[in-house]
Amino acid sequence: MKEIIVKCPGTVANLVCGFDILGLALNEPSDIMEVKLLDEPKVIIHNRDAYNLPTDPERNVAGVVFLSVMEKVGGNIGFEVTIEKHIKPGSGIGSSAASAAGAAVAANHLLGNRFSSDEVVQFAMNGEKLASGVKHADNIAPCILGGISLIRSIHPLDIVSIPSPDLFVTVIHPQIEVRTSDARQILKQQVLLKDAIRQWGNIAGLVTGFMKNDLDLVGRSLEDVIIEPVRSILIPGFDEVKRKCKEAGALGGGISGSGPSVFMLSRDEPTARNVESVMKEVYTRIGIDFYTYVTTINKKGVEVVEKQV
Ligand code: HSE
Repeated sequence: MKEIIVKCPGTVANLVCGFDILGLALNEPSDIMEVKLLDEPKVIIHNRDAYNLPTDPERNVAGVVFLSVMEKVGGNIGFEVTIEKHIKPGSGIGSSAASAAGAAVAANHLLGNRFSSDEVVQFAMNGEKLASGVKHADNIAPCILGGISLIRSIHPLDIVSIPSPDLFVTVIHPQIEVRTSDARQILKQQVLLKDAIRQWGNIAGLVTGFMKNDLDLVGRSLEDVIIEPVRSILIPGFDEVKRKCKEAGALGGGISGSGPSVFMLSRDEPTARNVESVMKEVYTRIGIDFYTYVTTINKKGVEVVEKQV
C-alpha cells in the first residue's frame, strides 16, 4: 500500500491561559491530504483548493515536513501530496499545523510506522517553524493525538494527553488578517510576578477542571492576564464578543491560537448555538465578514484512510 488519505483536524491552541502549552483538536473543520510514497528523492505538491499556497517544498509547510523525514530516512524515497484545505490559512485554528501534522503522520504511516509519536511531532514542528518562525507544538500535538494536549516541555519534548470532557466549541473566524509572527512579536518579553501567579493558578485550575470534569472550575480558569490583553487589540469587537458569549452561557473562551478566530466552550449544544448567534450579531453589526463553526472536541487526531490503488 503506497497511497493514503489523511484527515487532519483544526485545533485551538493556548486554550486562553496556556500560551504555547495547551491545545485541543476540533471535529470541524479539517483538511484532507492524499499522500503517495515515491521511489525517488523528491517532493511534489498539488493544491486542490483556492488558497494558492506555495508548491515549492522548501516554502510549503507540508513540504518541509516531508523533506525532514527524507533527510532522516535517506535513500530513494519521496512523497507526492494533494492538499485540500478547508481550514483557512491564517484563521488561528491550526491551518499550518494540520498540513504539518498530516504530512508527518502520512509519511510515518507510508514508511511502516517506524517513528514514535514524539518523533512524528518533531517532524511536524518543522512545518510550524516555517509558518510562524517558532517550533511550538500546541496545535501540532492535539492535531496528531486528538483531544487536549499539554506541552510540558519542548526541549526535551514532553507531551501529556489530558482527558477531555464532552464540551461544545463555538468558533468565529472574522475575515481579518492577523499573522502569527506579528501576534508573537507584539508580546512583552517580561511578566510581572503577580500576573505570573494568577496565570499559573489558572493553568493548574484548567487542567484540574478537565481531569475532574469540573466545568465550573474550567470556566473560572479560562482567564489570561498576560497574552490576551496585548493580542486582543488586533481583533475588533473582542471584548464585547467575549462578554456577550459568557452572558449567553458559555463557560468561557478567548483568542484561538494567535487569532483572529475567537472560541468559546459550552456545556451543551443549545448553549453553543446561542453563543454562535451572539458572535454573529456582534460581527454583523461591526461589519466584518465571518465564518462560524459549532463543533465538539476531536478525540482521534489525524485519521489515516487507506486508499485502494
Ligand atoms: N501558541 C501559538 C501562539 C499558536 O499563540 O502564537 C499559534 O498558532
